[in-house]
Amino acid sequence: MSHKLCHQACRVLLFSALCLFVALVFAAGQASQQAAGKNAQSTSAPTVTAPSSEASKYVGAETCKTCHEEIYNAWEKTPHWKTTLNIKGGPSKQGCEGCHGPGADHVAGGGDKTKIFVFEGKSRQETSARCLTCHGEAHEQSHFAESAHSSGDVGCLDCHSPHHAKEKEFLLVREQPQLCYGCHTSAKADFAKPYHHRVNEGLVQCVDCHNPHGTATVRQLRSLPSGDAICYKCHVDKQGPFVYEHVPVKTEGCTSCHSPHGSTNPKLLNVMPVNILCLQCHTFSTTLTAGGPIGPAHNQSAKYQACTMCHTQIHGSNFSDVFFK
Ligand code: HEC
Ligand code: HEC
Ligand code: HEC
Ligand code: HEC
Ligand code: HEC
Ligand code: HEC
Ligand code: HEC
Ligand code: HEC
Ligand code: HEC
Ligand code: HEC
Repeated sequence: MSHKLCHQACRVLLFSALCLFVALVFAAGQASQQAAGKNAQSTSAPTVTAPSSEASKYVGAETCKTCHEEIYNAWEKTPHWKTTLNIKGGPSKQGCEGCHGPGADHVAGGGDKTKIFVFEGKSRQETSARCLTCHGEAHEQSHFAESAHSSGDVGCLDCHSPHHAKEKEFLLVREQPQLCYGCHTSAKADFAKPYHHRVNEGLVQCVDCHNPHGTATVRQLRSLPSGDAICYKCHVDKQGPFVYEHVPVKTEGCTSCHSPHGSTNPKLLNVMPVNILCLQCHTFSTTLTAGGPIGPAHNQSAKYQACTMCHTQIHGSNFSDVFFK
């Protein structure tokens, strides 16, 4: 019985030794491979320089935890914990070091702040660039570099905070729309008008129409996959195609008549009364393309009724070339 036990223990020992040997050989192979990769252009033979190899500068999030436990525990509950699963990306895309860079020297220095990337005090360009090493390819963020926000010196950390977010979703520093109003006071004034898209009421969001990370079009406006105006996403009935299109709807877009943020007009028109809006383009002048309201129906020298009384299908019609019912 005791002999059998001893025999087993011996086998375990032998096996461990073998494992250690294999591991050592493997590690040496890896290190020389890395060194070879690094010195690809140099003519000297690859040498084993383990301590300076890139991978060895990363210590992993568990090591950071030993000194930054509070931060670690909170961080673990944010979506960024998922980076620890990013085996394929390698240590530079994982855990704390995915953002703060390699931490070995910082740890060796007992927490030397100068030996690790600290966000505080860095330019927005530099901090955003760091976030974009992972998010730059994502569809939502792919236009950030050329966005109005980026060129207006607004960075990721003006709206997001990986450790101190105030919102449950998206690591935001402030709730919407207050986040946006903090810098966009004229938008705030627009949405306070009597008629508005109900953003303050939570029915519609700024980000339904805008992508704060920028888009391929002006005003950071979103568009449908077809390239059409985002307005059609919710106002499908206005899209057509119609047999008789009202030209400006398609050429100049919804904002040639509407103020989507807010207006004193119930239909969010830019100009009131509606006749003045129509007559901006439909003047009686013969030199203007849109053409004046002619014919007996308009012979009311005193005052027109609302144009839309008769021209009801103002966004386009399949039946009437003058947009009647
Ligand atoms: C997604 C990028 C990102 C990751 C991942 C990340 N950090 Fe940070 N860290 C930041 C940013 C940005 C700041 C600046 C403060 C802020 O905006 O939250 C910061 C600040 C800090 C600070 C300064 C103190 C403070 O609370 O602001 C410490 C310490 C820190 N991080 C440690 C860690 C540790 C430890 C981990 C892993 C558990 C980690 N970080 C993971 C981006 C990151
Ligand atoms: C041996 C303990 C120790 C370990 C391990 C450690 N740190 Fe630190 N770290 C510290 C100390 C101490 C400070 C505070 C230094 C100061 O205030 O001068 C610090 C500061 C920081 C800061 C700057 C905080 C600030 O105030 O701006 C960051 C960022 C940071 N650590 C990230 C990390 C990351 C990421 C890891 C893992 C790669 C890590 N630390 C591992 C001890 C440690
Ligand atoms: C002006 C404010 C603002 C700036 C600047 C900003 N974001 Fe955002 N971000 C938001 C808002 C608001 C949301 C929520 C979007 C939503 O509800 O659709 C969001 C969502 C996200 C999301 C999750 C949604 C998704 O599908 O991608 C990621 C990731 C993100 N932002 C990363 C970034 C990065 C990286 C930067 C810097 C390059 C950045 N953000 C800059 C406001 C901002
Ligand atoms: C190492 C790669 C990496 C870096 C660097 C990085 N992120 Fe992320 N980020 C991720 C991953 C992975 C997710 C989770 C995506 C998912 O849930 O599918 C994420 C998610 C997010 C989200 C969405 C949160 C949510 O609630 O859905 C935001 C916002 C975000 N990151 C902002 C930032 C900001 C700001 C920075 C720079 C300080 C940054 N990220 C740096 C990898 C990264
Ligand atoms: C930290 C301040 C800040 C925050 C927060 C902010 N913005 Fe901006 N925004 C700017 C600056 C600066 C510009 C560029 C200058 C300008 O056009 O006003 C800009 C530009 C824009 C533009 C393009 C304007 C144009 O004329 O092309 C839109 C749209 C916009 N922001 C929407 C938003 C939305 C939506 C939010 C909230 C998710 C938001 N912003 C949050 C500062 C901010
Ligand atoms: C229903 C869609 C929609 C919503 C919701 C919306 N916007 Fe806009 N916004 C637009 C359109 C369309 C324009 C372009 C107007 C133009 O070109 O005349 C615009 C323009 C802007 C501009 C450029 C300056 C200006 O006033 O014309 C800013 C800044 C802006 N929006 C911020 C915001 C903010 C902040 C919110 C949320 C509080 C928001 N928007 C909500 C559609 C929307
Ligand atoms: C996310 C969905 C959504 C998007 C995108 C959207 N709208 Fe709206 N819109 C609504 C809702 C919902 C109402 C109803 C308003 C209410 O009851 O508060 C509305 C109302 C309106 C009205 C007033 C109609 C009425 O009878 O009260 C106009 C005009 C309008 N939208 C134009 C636009 C334009 C122009 C755009 C594009 C710039 C746009 N909308 C984008 C959801 C949207
Ligand atoms: C040529 C000017 C003009 C253009 C361009 C225009 N509209 Fe209108 N729209 C109007 C007028 C005028 C009314 C009010 C009709 C009424 O009072 O009966 C209106 C009403 C509306 C209404 C509320 C009533 C209804 O029919 O549902 C919505 C929603 C609307 N428009 C959305 C849009 C959208 C979305 C676009 C862009 C695709 C657009 N409009 C382009 C002139 C225009
Ligand atoms: C932004 C300029 C613009 C505004 C505002 C506008 N229209 Fe038009 N409208 C046009 C153009 C351009 C045509 C096409 C004219 C052509 O094909 O010769 C057109 C065509 C028409 C037609 C078809 C008859 C024709 O000449 O083809 C009618 C009817 C009409 N508009 C009525 C209205 C009414 C009613 C309003 C106000 C609710 C209005 N329009 C507002 C630009 C405008
Ligand atoms: C009482 C009903 C009525 C009102 C109100 C009305 N229209 Fe018309 N409109 C018509 C009729 C009917 C026609 C077709 C006339 C024809 O074919 O001879 C027409 C035709 C038009 C045309 C096309 C002219 C052409 O060259 O064929 C335009 C443009 C127009 N209206 C614009 C307007 C504008 C702008 C207003 C408001 C200032 C307006 N209408 C108010 C009934 C009306």
